[in-house]
Amino acid sequence: MIDKKIIWGVLLLCTMIFASCSNDGKVVFIQGEEPVGIDPNAPIQPLKDKAKFKIGAAVKFTTLQGDAKYKDAVLKNFSQITAEFEMKMATIWGSTSYNWTAPDNLVNFAKDNNLEVHGHTLIWYNSFPDWFKNQQNDSVAFEAKVKVYIKDVVGRYKGKVKSWDVVNEVFADGGALRDETVIKPIFKDPIGFYGRCFQYAREADPDAKLFYNDYSVVIDAGKRAAIKKMVARFKAKGYPIDGLGDQFHYSVNTNRQVMTTGFTDLASTGLLIHISELDIKVNVNKSDSYFFSDEEAQKQADTYKYIVEMYETLPQNQKFAITTWGVTDKYTWLTEAWNPKEYPLLFDIDYSKKAAYVGFLAGLK
Ligand code: XIL
Repeated sequence: MIDKKIIWGVLLLCTMIFASCSNDGKVVFIQGEEPVGIDPNAPIQPLKDKAKFKIGAAVKFTTLQGDAKYKDAVLKNFSQITAEFEMKMATIWGSTSYNWTAPDNLVNFAKDNNLEVHGHTLIWYNSFPDWFKNQQNDSVAFEAKVKVYIKDVVGRYKGKVKSWDVVNEVFADGGALRDETVIKPIFKDPIGFYGRCFQYAREADPDAKLFYNDYSVVIDAGKRAAIKKMVARFKAKGYPIDGLGDQFHYSVNTNRQVMTTGFTDLASTGLLIHISELDIKVNVNKSDSYFFSDEEAQKQADTYKYIVEMYETLPQNQKFAITTWGVTDKYTWLTEAWNPKEYPLLFDIDYSKKAAYVGFLAGLK
């Protein structure tokens, strides 16, 4: 009789905690998965300890300083950081003199804590400071200034920032050159300009890995073709490029077969591949009454697992890093850019590991 009660009690407990988020160090039971044989007290292995490539997170220095739990989550689980905005041109070069405070702080923090730094981003149409845009330079003057900027930034962090997104988001959906007002109207051949930017970065730090970064790369065949064409041109011209980043701002509904086909095609370049800004939206309809249920958490976990498994199919010498665009659902750009009810990351607002974390971990070889 007592034995039966214990058995029922255990079963009930298992049912109650399936798909729940765990506190740090506890295994998460996932709905439908058989808990037999899993020790609920076994710690969840930190991603950075299991992965054979870097596990990155986009961070903000002010949050690292002001939120001890955030800092702890970064230090325990990640091996690389990217500045979410503090190394963008508009921040460093917000006025005609440089402001190194935030990037210096981040780079020093990384050094003190044995984290690698991925630099984001040198040239992004969306981050040219207003004073620069207002100058109305011709192409020669524009490029001369950009060259100095790249040399100054990459040179300052030589050996400390191991890799750079040299150029970010050149192409529109479908693969045409993005119709922006900063670079396209000035240069007859913008792609040539971007190639020279890679050259300037290489000259400033010959050991840094240099990336082109964009979004929707694996799901947009036209954009991918344009990127591959650019890479071929760079190679023919001798412009140095080491890797390609796809941001991976996708959702639980992103077509997996399309993703895999595109990923394989991207890998055929032979370059390093960076999943550079990973977050997985769950509130796909932007509903204000959305509820992040256990079932939704599980869908998200499956998507993370799928993506990590896909990444693991790369040859080892093309693996670089998977970087999530943030750490916790408490702070994510998507609550502004998408919907306030969005839960795209690996930790919940209380810093418990979500099912997504366990999915990511399960996807690692
Ligand atoms: C976003 C940041 O998350 C925000 O905090 C910032 O205000 C705007 O930029 N693609 C990129 C990133 O390459 O730099 C963007 O980051 C998100 C989309």
